[in-house]
Amino acid sequence: DRRGAVTGMESILIVGSGQAGVQIAVSLRELGYRGRISLVGSEPHAPYQRPPLSKAFLVGDAEASSLDLRNVAFYVEPGIDVHVSERVISVDHDGYRGTATTDCGRTLTFDGLALATGVRPRRLTVPGADARGVHYLRTLDDAATLRRALSDHERGPGTVAVVGGGFIGLEIAAACRARGIWATVIETAPRVMARAVSPEMSTTLERAHQETGARILLGSTVEEVVTSDGQVSAVRTEDGQLIECGVVVVGIGSLPRTELAEQLGLRCDNGIVVDEACRTSVPSIVAAGDCSVFQPAWAPRPVRLESVPNATDQGRIAAAALLGIKPAPQPPPWFWSDQGALKLQLAGWTAESDRRVVRRATGSAPLSIVHYVDERMVGVEALNSPHDFSAVKRALVTGDSFPPEAVGDVRVHLKDLLATTQR
Ligand code: APR
Repeated sequence: DRRGAVTGMESILIVGSGQAGVQIAVSLRELGYRGRISLVGSEPHAPYQRPPLSKAFLVGDAEASSLDLRNVAFYVEPGIDVHVSERVISVDHDGYRGTATTDCGRTLTFDGLALATGVRPRRLTVPGADARGVHYLRTLDDAATLRRALSDHERGPGTVAVVGGGFIGLEIAAACRARGIWATVIETAPRVMARAVSPEMSTTLERAHQETGARILLGSTVEEVVTSDGQVSAVRTEDGQLIECGVVVVGIGSLPRTELAEQLGLRCDNGIVVDEACRTSVPSIVAAGDCSVFQPAWAPRPVRLESVPNATDQGRIAAAALLGIKPAPQPPPWFWSDQGALKLQLAGWTAESDRRVVRRATGSAPLSIVHYVDERMVGVEALNSPHDFSAVKRALVTGDSFPPEAVGDVRVHLKDLLATTQR
C-alpha cells in the first residue's frame, strides 16, 4: 500500500524550483503522498521552462507568460507551498528530519528533504569580463536582459561576440542571425559542441551556422574584454584578433550548486553524488537534476546530466525514494538543441563509443550518426532526422541493437529495424 509507506511523513522540503524540483512535487502527489510540500526557489518567478530562453524567447516568438511549468492551479493546491524569491541558506538535519532557514528569515521544518539546486554558469574571468554588456544565460531574468540588449543592438551595425560554441553558444548565434544580428562565436576547442557530439556532427554544425552568416572561430580563446566607459567595445583573442562588439554572451559550461549539500556533509564530486534511486550519501536525503552526479550502468565513470529529460526522470525517482517506493529504472538519457533551422537530437551515451556509422554525407543536414560499443548500439546523434532519433531512442529503451550494415544503408528506415511490437 503506497499510502501506508508514506503516512509517516508529514512535510517534505524541496530546495530548488526548476524542472527537477517541480517534478519531485508532482510525482509525490502522483505517488499518493498527501502531506505538506514546500518548494523553495530563489528566482522571482513561478517555476518556468528554461529551454525556450535561448530559443523562442530570445527571438521574440515566446513570452514569459507562456513558459509556466505547471498550471497555476497546481501550486495553489492545498498543502503545496511555493516560495519564490527565497533562498535556503542553511539546513540542519539529524538523518531523519530537520530544519531549514531561508534568507527571508523563515524557518521550515521537514521530515523529508530533496535537493534540486541546479547549476550556475561558469564565469569568464579575463580582464574586463565584469563590464556592462557581458551576459550569461541561465534564468528568465538573464534572458529578458539579453533580449533587450539584442533589441538595442538590432538597430546598430555591430556584432555580438559569443564566447563558447556549446549548447548555449550555438543557440544564441542562431537567435542573433534570426534577428539579423551579426554573431561571432569564439570557441577554445578545435570544434564546436565537442563535449556532446562527434567530429562529423561538429563539422556539419559549423558549416550550417556559417551558411547563415555566423562567424565561428575555433581554437580561439578570449584574452580580454575591451571596454570603453565600463561598457564592452570589443573582445581580444589570444592570437591578437580584435572583434568589435556591443554585446558579449558567455556560454562556457556550468557548475553544480552544491553549497547546501556540502554544508550537510553530503558527498560531492562535480555534483551531489547519488545512487540509482537518487539517494545521497545520507540515504534519507535525495538529490535530482543538473546538480546530481551518478554512476549509470551504461558509462564507465560517473556522469552529471544537464537536461530536462534527466531532471524529470530523476525527479520521479527521487520522489519514489523519499516515500520508500522502489523506483522504475532510469531510461537512457537524451538531449536536444534547437539552433535556428537546425534541430539536434541526441540519445544514449556516445562518449566512449568505438564505432560510429554515419548515415548520409557529413557536411549538411539531415545527418545522423549511430554509435556502437563492442558491436552493440549505444546511441545516436541526429540533425534534422527525427525519425532516426526516435527509432534508436526506442531501441535503446529495450536494449535492442540495429546491425551497422543496415544502419549504413540510407534506403533502410531505422523504424523498420525495431521489433515488430515496438513500431
Ligand atoms: N572560451 C571559449 N570557449 C570556451 C571557454 C573559453 N574560455 N571555456 C569553455 N569553452 C567552450 C567549451 O569548449 C564548450 O564547447 O564552451 C563550450 C561550453 O559548452 P557546453 O558545455 O555545452 O555549455 P553551455 O553551452 O554553457 O551550456 C550549459 O546549459 O542549456 C544547458 O544543456 C545545456 O548543459 C548545457 C548548459
